[in-house]
Amino acid sequence: MDHFQIRDGVMHAEDINLETLAREVGTPFYCYSSATIARHYNVFAAAVSGLGDGNPLVAFAVKANPNLSVLATLARLGAGADVVSGGELARALAAGVPADRIVFSGVGKQRAELRAGVLAGILQFNIESEAEILMLAEEAAALDRQVDVAIRINPAVDPKTHGKISTGGADAKFGIPFERVPAAFALAAAQSHLRPVGLAAHIGSQLTDLSPVEDMIGRLGQLADELEAAGHKLQRIDCGGGLGVPYRSDQPAPPSPAHYAAMVARATKGWRWRLMFEPGRMIVGNAGVLVSSVILTKAGASKQFVVVDAAMNDLLRPSLYNAWHDIRALRPRGERQIATVVGPICETGDTFAEDREIEVVGADDLIAFMTAGAYGATMASTYNSRPLVPEVMVSGHEWAIVSQRNLPEVMLALDAKAPWLQDEAR
Ligand code: LLP
Repeated sequence: MDHFQIRDGVMHAEDINLETLAREVGTPFYCYSSATIARHYNVFAAAVSGLGDGNPLVAFAVKANPNLSVLATLARLGAGADVVSGGELARALAAGVPADRIVFSGVGKQRAELRAGVLAGILQFNIESEAEILMLAEEAAALDRQVDVAIRINPAVDPKTHGKISTGGADAKFGIPFERVPAAFALAAAQSHLRPVGLAAHIGSQLTDLSPVEDMIGRLGQLADELEAAGHKLQRIDCGGGLGVPYRSDQPAPPSPAHYAAMVARATKGWRWRLMFEPGRMIVGNAGVLVSSVILTKAGASKQFVVVDAAMNDLLRPSLYNAWHDIRALRPRGERQIATVVGPICETGDTFAEDREIEVVGADDLIAFMTAGAYGATMASTYNSRPLVPEVMVSGHEWAIVSQRNLPEVMLALDAKAPWLQDEAR
């Protein structure tokens, strides 16, 4: 359920009329509903609350939406954070996520990033290679800190999702192959400044079938038992993220948090370890829309084009993954048409939908790309020298710009003319 509904003929975000907002802010812009974010977090947290040792950690995957206000909304609700860079770590801390609820994942953490995590005193690092064990051990020793680590395993299961967002296959770059995990754990245990306390896995994103996740959890449990039998003491098992969200109103919805939790309960029956989860898309996906204006419509040889002012640089998912985002008119007239919705960028890939049935819209009408709260603004770029798309958050009757549109002159000022290109006469 989300809070983007048509009221009095116009789409609202909670109590805010999006047409009015578009006039104030200018288009394109992302709009987030804080009530939707809160609802999704609470539903997920409640569903998993009794699992494992009864005190699970829900660490929001910051990469899905790193906006400071999004993170602060979640921090207030008690969420932790799963970060994958020094930048995400800094954002999570700035938003008020306590360090002891932060987990640092990622296949190529750099020394400066490891140091930042150690100094912040985060809960744990999810380690992805033997080399990283040694790097972190050196950094922790240099800072004279004890650091908790979990080994991210490569469970070699096929998550049955889009290839570009699968991470669990045997040939994926992620995690340590299953068979080498006991040796890696022992290597970590031999480091004076590391405390290996757990295992982690994450097999992919937008998962619509829970059976690969159940296999993954089974493998985590098997390895954890093996490690404890070898004398190690485990505290935590991180089950990653990945639960899919409904992108298409005309297709069956993916499993709900309740279904997911029921599967986890089954797969972890009898476990005493603390469970961790890293949901991203599930929390923020349906909590955001991208609002855009129609610039013009044009007839092609056989297609009817709707050219809008948002483009692939603002919402990359359709062009990168052929992803589907529902497209709705902010003021639906009740007439439908078949249209190809494109942005102004000079690439054919700048297409949001091909021959899609949508509401009839014309120049200056406003539309919304739905379910754009996850992996939307965060994957935006300035391609074609377009300003970065701004972000607005709504809470009831209140709204605020929570990320500014950067202006062309600001972007230009970041560039420099090399000395040999400067005009000496001036
Ligand atoms: N944990 C780890 C270690 C991850 O790599 C990811 C996502 C998550 C958690 C969160 O997964 P989620 O719950 O959001 O599915 N840009 C792509 C998605 C990439 C996901 C990368 N990793 C997209 O737009 O579909």
